[in-house]
Amino acid sequence: MPTAEPPPPARPRRLITHARPPMVEEKIRERGRAVHIDLKGRTAIVTGSSQGIGLAIATGLAEAGARVVLTGRGASRLEAAAGAVRDRAAGADVVTVASDLATEDGAAALTGAVPDADILVNNLGVFGSRPALEITDAEWRAYFETNVLSAVRLTRHYLPAMKAQGWGRVLYIASDSAIATPAEMIHYGMSKTALLAVSRGFAKEAAGTGVTVNSVIAGPTHTGGVEEFVYELVDRSLPWEEAQREFMRRHRPHSLIQRLIEPEEIAGMCVYLSSSFASATTGGALRVDGGYVDAILP
Ligand SMILES: NC(=O)c1ccc[n+]([C@@H]2O[C@H](COP(=O)([O-])OP(=O)(O)OC[C@H]3O[C@@H](n4cnc5c(N)ncnc54)[C@H](OP(=O)(O)O)[C@@H]3O)[C@@H](O)[C@H]2O)c1
Repeated sequence: MPTAEPPPPARPRRLITHARPPMVEEKIRERGRAVHIDLKGRTAIVTGSSQGIGLAIATGLAEAGARVVLTGRGASRLEAAAGAVRDRAAGADVVTVASDLATEDGAAALTGAVPDADILVNNLGVFGSRPALEITDAEWRAYFETNVLSAVRLTRHYLPAMKAQGWGRVLYIASDSAIATPAEMIHYGMSKTALLAVSRGFAKEAAGTGVTVNSVIAGPTHTGGVEEFVYELVDRSLPWEEAQREFMRRHRPHSLIQRLIEPEEIAGMCVYLSSSFASATTGGALRVDGGYVDAILP
């Protein structure tokens, strides 16, 4: 009769003996409270946040407990936006700074009013359609200065202190146009592709410091600006619902959700990336594009 095989020797249990980094401990504490993102004690600047995606991001961050700084050029639009944030996030600490961030002086006004931040969301961006061969030098420069240089200046100011304190979040709101550049928006596409490089580069600059740097590739989103843009490309006499469908059918046929994205859907990704749940996500480009870009990776 064959004899039974002896049982394998018991393997010694291996327990974690080395302390985990504080950011991991923080993540584990958050996990204990299910998916509860707590940004209390964090100051978040969201550029271009008096309306649209920026306002939705600022609202989401305020709902998670962050003190939020709203920026834009129009002071009265900013005050209305601050009221909207407080309506959604009772007791929110909301600061507004009116300045033109496409300029050096405008950036200095913001950094003077709010010298430090834990979270910087570079959301400001302008867009419009223009035949490729008609884009002037001045327009190329304006797109670069407003959409790219504004974000670089603010990163240069806020990143060093984030690195020194060992925690920070920098986000850039890019666009599907960064990787699927429409023929009628190559100046805009150039600026958004540049942001992907800027984001990846600053993530390397922040390597090993506890600061993460990422870009979010937003797809066609339902904002006031986009309503105007849609009407530049489809018949102005169409009612909004029809105009939106026509725009998606003719100009964004690859969208897998076959509708415009709502700003809160972009905000959800930004709040997540701002949290300690996302502490191992850096140097990336995360898509919230409704599946518009026909690729598995960005
Ligand atoms: N909407 C989309 O479908 C879509 C898709 C992909 C990516 N994105 C990106 O998402 C971001 C936000 O887009 P959005 O549609 O929400 O924009 P939006 O509705 O046009 O809002 C733009 C915001 O930026 C402010 N702003 C404009 N120029 C400024 C300047 N020079 N200095 C300071 N603030 C300025 C505006 O306020 P004031 O006018 O008062 O200054 C406003 O608060 C942009 O980067 C855009 O490229 C949008």
